[in-house]
Amino acid sequence: MKVLVTGGAGFVGSHIVDLLIQRGYEVVVVDNLYHGNLKNINSRAVFYKVDIRDKYKIKDIFDKEKPDYVIHEASQISVENSIENPILDAEINILGTINVLESCKGSKVKKIIYPASAAIFGEPEYLPIDEKHPLSMLSPYGVSKHTVEHYLDVYNKIYGINYVSLRCSNVYGPRQDSSGEGGVVSIFCNKMFNGERPIIFGDGEQIRDFIYVTDVARATLMAMSGNINGIFNVCSGTKTSINKLVKSINKILDQDIKAINKEERKGDIKFSFMSNVKINSILKWEQKIRLEDGLRNMLKYLEMEKKV
Ligand SMILES: NC(=O)c1ccc[n+]([C@@H]2O[C@H](COP(=O)([O-])OP(=O)(O)OC[C@H]3O[C@@H](n4cnc5c(N)ncnc54)[C@H](O)[C@@H]3O)[C@@H](O)[C@H]2O)c1
Repeated sequence: MKVLVTGGAGFVGSHIVDLLIQRGYEVVVVDNLYHGNLKNINSRAVFYKVDIRDKYKIKDIFDKEKPDYVIHEASQISVENSIENPILDAEINILGTINVLESCKGSKVKKIIYPASAAIFGEPEYLPIDEKHPLSMLSPYGVSKHTVEHYLDVYNKIYGINYVSLRCSNVYGPRQDSSGEGGVVSIFCNKMFNGERPIIFGDGEQIRDFIYVTDVARATLMAMSGNINGIFNVCSGTKTSINKLVKSINKILDQDIKAINKEERKGDIKFSFMSNVKINSILKWEQKIRLEDGLRNMLKYLEMEKKV
């Protein structure tokens, strides 16, 4: 079985590629390396340095490789960039995705798996956020990530292409870029590992839902199999405050670095955590890596990177 992974040089995509290869799949990676890294790509994957906005090249790859499944991770992922340049965001996240879907049309692709985002919910109306929670996007990124869910549904209705959209909470783990504003775990681990004080906007009592990247990779592979279509949250379902995050990193590093508290940022959501009841009951997926263990892995990874 062959799986084409767009964005397979990125943080989440590269972990999915590793798991696919470990499970015996043939893997083709398509990535323009805009935010991904060559060194993340498993050496047993076939790699095309191609932009998903290039519909002719994308179609050529599909015609040549004839994948059985597509995992579509390639995306512009910055909320801030999407506000500054909504056209670029839509070109990559919406039009680029349509190129991928058009290439799936009439091919042997059985299913496409797509990572949506908690950015589509806005300020929660109730907690935990389940799949039926009303949507209220606060950024063009949120709009583009959700728009794709409509396209997936329409391509399923018209062409019978199966799909699963996985609405992921805050994913963290090795290879995550610590310069992005989305990766608070990565930013804090990097800072505190280097003995620096992390910056907390507000009192640190804001709640987030952190999920380890290999748990997301496992959910992605579980979503590939079977005839189940639709939308599933992938999350821990656990509330973690930013203060608790700092405390846990300190505990593992056996230190007591104090965060610097700055003024709360406008538009930041105070409480957000999601429900994993649906994915748990239908796909039988469960979170395996708890926060303390995930943080330990991340810090070990930073230690190893330092030695290289
Ligand atoms: N990291 C999270 O917390 C999180 C949460 C929810 C959803 N997601 C989604 O998961 C997916 C992966 O996110 P990530 O955190 O690994 O980000 P990432 O930036 O590490 O990975 C995205 C990959 O897509 C590639 N890419 C970007 N534009 C491209 C283009 N035009 N053509 C080809 N390749 C392109 C990048 O080079 C990169 O390798 C994204 O779709 C993101 O929206 C991530």
